Amino acid sequence: MARTRTTKTVAQRIDLNYFKKPTPFKRAKLLLAILAPALAIVWLGLYFFVRDNRVYSSGRLSKAHAVLEKECAACHVQQAGGFTAKAADSACLACHDGPQHHASNTRTKLACAECHAEHRGRVNLAATRNQSCAQCHGDLSVANRESKYFKQIRSFEDGHPEFATLRFAAGTAPRDSGTIKLNHALHMRAIRRGPTGPMVQLECMNCHTSGATNPDLTYSDPKYRGASVSYKDSDVVLQIDRKTLTQPQPITGRELMAPPKFANACAACHLLTFDTRFDEGVPHDQPQVIHAYLVKKFSEYIAAHPGELNEVQDPRRNLTGRAPGPASRALSARQWIAERVAVSEELLWHKTCSQCHSISATTLHDVRIARWDAAKPREPSRIASGTANTAPNAWANSLPDVAPAKLTLQWLPHSRFDHHAHRGFSCTGCHQSALKSTETSDILIPGIATCQKCHAPGAGYAESRCFECHTYHDWEKRNEVKPSFTLPALQMSGR
Ligand code: HEC
Ligand code: HEC
Ligand code: HEC
Ligand code: HEC
Ligand code: HEC
Ligand code: HEC
Ligand code: HEC
Ligand code: HEC
Ligand code: HEC
Ligand code: HEC
Repeated sequence: MARTRTTKTVAQRIDLNYFKKPTPFKRAKLLLAILAPALAIVWLGLYFFVRDNRVYSSGRLSKAHAVLEKECAACHVQQAGGFTAKAADSACLACHDGPQHHASNTRTKLACAECHAEHRGRVNLAATRNQSCAQCHGDLSVANRESKYFKQIRSFEDGHPEFATLRFAAGTAPRDSGTIKLNHALHMRAIRRGPTGPMVQLECMNCHTSGATNPDLTYSDPKYRGASVSYKDSDVVLQIDRKTLTQPQPITGRELMAPPKFANACAACHLLTFDTRFDEGVPHDQPQVIHAYLVKKFSEYIAAHPGELNEVQDPRRNLTGRAPGPASRALSARQWIAERVAVSEELLWHKTCSQCHSISATTLHDVRIARWDAAKPREPSRIASGTANTAPNAWANSLPDVAPAKLTLQWLPHSRFDHHAHRGFSCTGCHQSALKSTETSDILIPGIATCQKCHAPGAGYAESRCFECHTYHDWEKRNEVKPSFTLPALQMSGR
């Protein structure tokens, strides 16, 4: 018997209403389809009920903003009942200002979030990417003029110039404009402490400490430290106006080294003695102050020792080759004082002070010769000015000028540098040239290659993105914000 198997009979076997019948699997699917959204709504509703919006968040907030984790609206201002996906600058500015960097630029203002990206976990929000700076500095343009800065800086490794103080300008080597003479190489070898003192080995920190650190007093002299001087500490520092961005953080005073001071770092070895009659030296001060001191000292001395007014010349001390003068002479006290002051001053200006300073103006004489005629008035104008007959200084040499010290306090004003952050590293590791330098005009500041040994990309190196060394915001232009945001937790507690 032939089987009658047609497509029709086969088709009839299929239950066309199969989908209408429930099966356990289908029931489970249905349940899930209803329950999942319902659960989600309940879940979200719960968060809504406890005012927690973290569920919509695309990642945890930075360390500084962690307390705002539940406060989406603080940054995503509400618009028409919903949150904006963009964080509005106005929201950031309601809590703290971020004044724009060099507004002279032609490009439009950048949104805060372009640099301070949120929801990246508990990161340092100020750690901006190189690209956020390089979008301008990779091809720097300034409206209507040439920028004086390098124009193609993409990263610290790529395009960053050598620091300006160390660059050759028009073919001439950079130099330190300070006028205090110091031969670093000589002082870093074993050296005698004072004219007859023992040999000692100086260290950098004997002369250099930060402004906030107590100075090292190994080579100080209490008399000079205690003395008040007629010039101000700020006078010895090079005054130039370098327009730069100010730091947001407070300055601790440990960043930079204070200018070295004679009283703290030189006085124990370099004595300012002027006459064998006195053990002590002259004050370390302006020539006018020293002059008044000398006059006072010799006046007091001759009043106590009038016998010295009658002098007998030792013929052996006449080295001038001229015919010897009278073998003895009697001086008035005024003459004697003027003569001693003049001889002392020639020694001081000519040898003592000019060892460390550039001394100008006065004619300097050779003090090695015995000088019977030192008291001759050289400046008739001073005598004519009225003080001549009463004050001994009428007879004195004209007083010289000590060149302003012009010590540079900050060498890299367009960046941050902090000695304290590098305190574990030896001074000569960065300032290698200090051991070899013989001239004050040498610059001993390390160049970019030194920094790049440590500040480089990758693990095993210190941070090398721009924010580590540079300030972005012009904090001087900051608006003080009147805070209006209250954390809900504080509203509720009432205590
Ligand atoms: C401190 C400010 C701040 C707070 C608080 C904050 N955000 Fe954001 N959020 C940002 C910034 C900045 C962006 C980057 C968006 C942009 O480019 O404007 C962002 C982006 C987003 C985005 C877009 C996706 C992305 O990563 O670009 C979502 C979604 C978002 N936030 C959700 C939330 C939620 C939900 C909350 C609350 C739980 C919240 N945010 C709280 C600052 C904040
Ligand atoms: C509700 C107030 C509030 C809002 C809104 C807010 N911040 Fe802050 N922000 C703070 C507080 C508080 C700190 C921590 C104090 C500090 O370090 O200055 C901070 C710190 C920062 C810091 C320094 C981070 C650090 O580690 O030093 C940056 C950068 C910053 N905010 C950027 C932003 C940006 C960009 C926005 C807008 C997307 C924003 N903030 C919105 C309150 C706010
Ligand atoms: C081109 C990148 C850039 C943009 C755009 C930017 N910032 Fe910054 N911001 C930085 C850098 C870099 C730092 C860290 C160095 C500094 O303080 O200048 C910083 C630091 C901060 C700090 C922390 C200051 C502190 O006390 O340490 C705040 C607050 C801040 N920015 C707010 C803002 C606000 C608000 C905006 C938008 C109006 C904004 N920033 C736009 C790069 C940027
Ligand atoms: C919107 C463009 C723009 C961005 C972004 C930008 N800069 Fe600048 N920057 C300028 C302009 C313009 C100047 C000034 C040039 C001039 O006056 O010749 C400047 C000058 C500087 C200077 C030298 C002058 C000074 O103030 O010390 C430094 C350093 C600097 N920027 C660092 C940075 C760093 C670091 C970043 C990233 C956090 C950055 N800039 C982001 C435009 C920008
Ligand atoms: C490790 C520290 C460090 C890092 C990182 C760094 N700089 Fe500098 N930068 C300096 C120092 C130091 C100077 C010299 C400052 C001076 O001459 O006053 C300088 C100078 C500059 C100048 C002035 C250049 C000129 O013509 O004299 C600009 C602009 C600048 N940096 C931008 C950047 C940018 C953009 C980045 C990131 C891509 C960056 N810097 C990264 C330390 C750094
Ligand atoms: C006897 C005191 C003394 C000692 C020791 C000494 N310095 Fe100096 N240093 C000075 C004086 C004074 C100046 C200012 C005159 C000048 O610029 O040479 C100076 C200037 C400097 C400067 C800035 C001036 C420039 O041209 O760069 C640096 C950097 C410096 N010293 C580093 C060092 C280091 C590093 C050591 C140790 C290896 C050291 N100094 C040891 C007295 C000293
Ligand atoms: C061993 C080196 C040394 C000798 C010697 C020395 N000085 Fe100085 N002098 C310094 C140093 C270092 C400073 C820098 C700041 C300070 O000590 O207060 C200075 C600063 C000065 C200043 C301030 C300069 C300014 O810029 O305002 C005057 C004035 C001065 N000395 C005068 C003298 C006179 C006058 C003599 C000689 C009696 C003398 N000094 C001898 C090292 C010396
Ligand atoms: C440990 C003792 C000691 C200290 C501290 C010291 N010096 Fe000297 N200094 C000497 C000796 C020793 C000489 C070499 C004597 C000589 O040849 O006249 C000398 C020589 C000099 C010379 C002449 C260098 C040359 O090339 O001829 C100058 C300038 C000088 N010192 C400046 C200073 C200054 C400035 C300070 C303080 C910042 C200072 N010294 C601190 C011991 C010292
Ligand atoms: C990591 C490298 C580094 C180390 C380590 C270091 N310095 Fe410096 N030093 C610098 C730089 C960079 C400057 C220029 C900073 C500026 O003026 O902006 C500087 C400047 C100076 C100056 C000139 C004044 C000033 O602060 O600008 C003196 C003096 C000085 N250093 C002495 C020392 C002494 C002493 C030590 C050891 C205790 C030391 N340095 C360690 C890098 C270093
Ligand atoms: C011997 C290694 C070494 C050298 C060389 C070095 N640094 Fe650093 N620097 C560090 C370390 C380590 C830190 C601290 C860790 C960090 O912040 O990444 C640091 C931190 C800094 C900071 C941040 C300071 C702070 O207060 O947060 C600046 C700015 C800086 N260095 C600039 C420089 C400059 C400019 C030079 C070159 C003149 C330089 N460094 C050379 C190792 C070095």
